[in-house]
Amino acid sequence: MKTKITEMFGIQHPIIQGGMHFVGFAEMAAAVSNAGGLGIITGLTQRSAGDLTNEIAKCRDMTDKPFGVNLTFLPSLNPPDYPAYVKSIVDGGVKVVETAGRNPQEVMPALKDAGISVIHKCTSVRHSLKAQSIGCDAVSVDGFECGGHPGEDDIPNMILLPRAADELEIPFVASGGMADARSLVASLAMGAEGMNMGTRFIATKEAPVHENVKKAIVAASELDTRLVMRPLRNTERVLTNAAVEKLLEKERELGADLKFEDIIEEVAGVYPRIMMEGDMDAGAWSCGMVAGLINDIPTCKELIDSIMAEAELLIRDRLEGFLAA
Ligand SMILES: Cc1cc2nc3c(=O)[nH]c(=O)nc-3n(C[C@H](O)[C@H](O)[C@H](O)COP(=O)(O)O)c2cc1C
Repeated sequence: MKTKITEMFGIQHPIIQGGMHFVGFAEMAAAVSNAGGLGIITGLTQRSAGDLTNEIAKCRDMTDKPFGVNLTFLPSLNPPDYPAYVKSIVDGGVKVVETAGRNPQEVMPALKDAGISVIHKCTSVRHSLKAQSIGCDAVSVDGFECGGHPGEDDIPNMILLPRAADELEIPFVASGGMADARSLVASLAMGAEGMNMGTRFIATKEAPVHENVKKAIVAASELDTRLVMRPLRNTERVLTNAAVEKLLEKERELGADLKFEDIIEEVAGVYPRIMMEGDMDAGAWSCGMVAGLINDIPTCKELIDSIMAEAELLIRDRLEGFLAA
């Protein structure tokens, strides 16, 4: 399949693996890229720019296909050294960067000077337009369904994607709630040039996370995610567990007085314990409603090949069939 996104990134299939904290290591990115999609290393999971340099080199040893690096700008008490991370990306010869969080204006000159394509992930049409105006090459439009940070507007993709199509001139991919061929074909119908998946890629053989995480996603239904940190305007969609229910109890009790320090136990530094050690009640971890559509743990190649084969059938048989009738 050829779309503006496959052309822009030099990939075979219009499928991107979004950056994921403590999931987006070289193993994950290389597996997706080797399967013909665009794998993405999560920059800030690497503790320093030097570590990111090593992770990029490792990924390059594992694939000769294009891959990207995610740079996330989230509220932080000690902001990371973004210029140093950008230097690692540029020096590592990476050609695609996925930015997320606040608008990436401060890193745009360095990235563009190095000939890097920037795809900014955002949860609203106005943020997408801003990304377009500051020179981003594409956007990843992340609907309310998404795992991670859906923003504060709560607009699901059935509305958000056609709205983005109406307003944007640069290409965009659909993100949030994407799992299979139906997701891809629907996204293309709504104006996207491909799709971005997070949660679905965690439940794959190559995802470098503990088996308990994969099993939890397969076991979860679409009813099992919760929104946390809404009172802090830093909303995150997570899989429910004991820690999440405790966190929500604190949110109910403290109301508008809630501060980050009140929930630090449930959210700070919990990813390594969950993703590496499989301690599933250690804290809140991002997961999309799409867990309800995930019932297996294939390889990335099996997943992407089946999506592309089924997408073709959907378009040729089901959709064209309606016209023939
Ligand atoms: C465990 C997990 C961690 C994530 N970490 C990040 C991150 O560090 N930076 C980022 O931009 N997005 C992050 N995301 C969001 C994904 O890149 C992607 O946008 C999202 O998962 C799409 O929604 P889906 O899960 O329904 O596919 C994360 C998602 C998950 C599930």
